Parts: sequence; structure tokens; C-alpha cells
Amino acid sequence: MRNCNLPALGGGAGLRHEHFDEIIATRPPFNWLEIISDDFMDFGGYSRDRLRQICELYTVVSHGVCLAIGSTDPLDRDYLRRMKGFCREIGSPWTSDHLCFTKVDHTNMLDLMPLPFTRETVRHVVERIRIVQQELELPFLLENITRYVTVSDREMSEAQFISEIVEQAECGLLLDVTNVHLNSKFHGYDALEFISSLPLARVGQIHLAGWVPDESGAVIDSHDGPVDPAVWELFRSTIEKTGPTSVLVEWDNLLPPVSRLLAEAQMADRMMQDIAPREAS
Ligand SMILES: [Fe+2]
Repeated sequence: MRNCNLPALGGGAGLRHEHFDEIIATRPPFNWLEIISDDFMDFGGYSRDRLRQICELYTVVSHGVCLAIGSTDPLDRDYLRRMKGFCREIGSPWTSDHLCFTKVDHTNMLDLMPLPFTRETVRHVVERIRIVQQELELPFLLENITRYVTVSDREMSEAQFISEIVEQAECGLLLDVTNVHLNSKFHGYDALEFISSLPLARVGQIHLAGWVPDESGAVIDSHDGPVDPAVWELFRSTIEKTGPTSVLVEWDNLLPPVSRLLAEAQMADRMMQDIAPREAS
């Protein structure tokens, strides 16, 4: 298996409401776009209508934030049913969400909270991913998150935790390279060693994002700036191992013009083209 048996779409970008009109009017040459499905699936009106038009022009891939795969609340079957219908409507070739918990006692905390790296959590998440895959009838990828703390109750490393889950559940991995870079700084490990220890054949998509440090110089995963040179380097080393895949530049705050977003997506695409000949040899 390579690229989790999914199509390698090259460099793409996160699609946000603010760019809809310009993208429809000017049709910039993005290979593909990703949307946060939770922002659209339960709403009609103008934005949904514009999204339909964009789906006729580009491959649009769904990415969710509200599945709560690691929560102990029961899986929301109605959410899965709505997600399935939405993915079919936009023709999404796969969908994804985060390896975390977001709900406690039926309340969505609107944040991606880290899970304890334990065997019990692995079993719990694997069981739920199997249900998700059955219900969605679509390839499902799980994304590694940025985490600012380590839950003290742990029996394995984060890399082992991620690996065991995606292998046992037989799902894909959405590898967020920026998240690995930031976590390696926060928690003091080698980012490339971490990536190398993951089941890379299961990587079906990559995320890249940037940040702007605050006045004190502190950094969080803010998705509000260009991709950092250190992340581009880590990305290059990663795709040398994975081969061509689908790479998405996420930019959610302090949105740049479409042309800037396109430049970042094309940079990712060029780097992937560079490694392609090495792939073939
Ligand atoms: Fe991400």
C-alpha cells in the first residue's frame, strides 16, 4: 500500500468563505481544496450555494472537527449520517477528523483535547473508527493534533499511540507536519524521527500551516501565517519517505489574498514534483 490507496492530488489549500467569490470569478489553478465540513453540512443559503459552484470547478475534500472520536460520549450516529450525505453531495473522495476528544457529557468544548496514550484509549478509538468507516462508506483519515500538555496517564509514546490506532483500525493518517514540528519543540523530541516511526504507507494526506508568534515570542498552532522554513524542510524529508500525496496548506486566521494562498500550495506542489523522479527511479 502507498498513500493509503488514495489519489495523490498534489498541493492544495483550505477553502474559506472569504475567498469564495474570488475563486469562482477568477478560477485560480488550485489542484484541490479542503473545507471544514462542520461549517457547511447543516446550513443552506448563499454559502452552500457558492460551495456547490466551487465543487463543479475543483476537487473538494471534507475535513471535520466535531466527530469527537476519542470522547466517551456515544458516537453521534445522526452526525455521521449528515456527514455521509454531505460528503456524497460534494463528491469528497475521503474525509478526515482529529485524534483527540472534543466532547464531554454531550458538550462540545470547541477545542481539540489530547487523549491519554493508553491501551484502553487505543481500544476505544479503534472500535469507534470502525463504526465511522462502516457508516460513512468512505475512506477515513485521522489527523495528529498539536498538544500543549501530555496527559500523565500514559503507557506508550505518542508515535506508538498513533501507529497502533491507524494500523488496528485500518484507517488512513492525515499527517499534520506543522503539528509534529510544534510538538517536537514543546515536548523535546526529534520531529523526523517521530515521523519516520509512523506507518507512512497509511499517510493519505498531509497538512501544513503557519503561525505568527505573539508579542512575547510565544508560538501556538494559529494557522495565521506562511509555512515556516523549518516546516518546509521537514515536509521535504517527509515526502521523500511517503512519496507523492495530497498536501494541503491551512490558513484560517488573518487570511491572505487568494494569490498568496495559491503560492503556498504551489510551493508544496513543486517540492512534491521534485521528489517524483526519485520515486520513479
Ligand atoms: Fe491540520
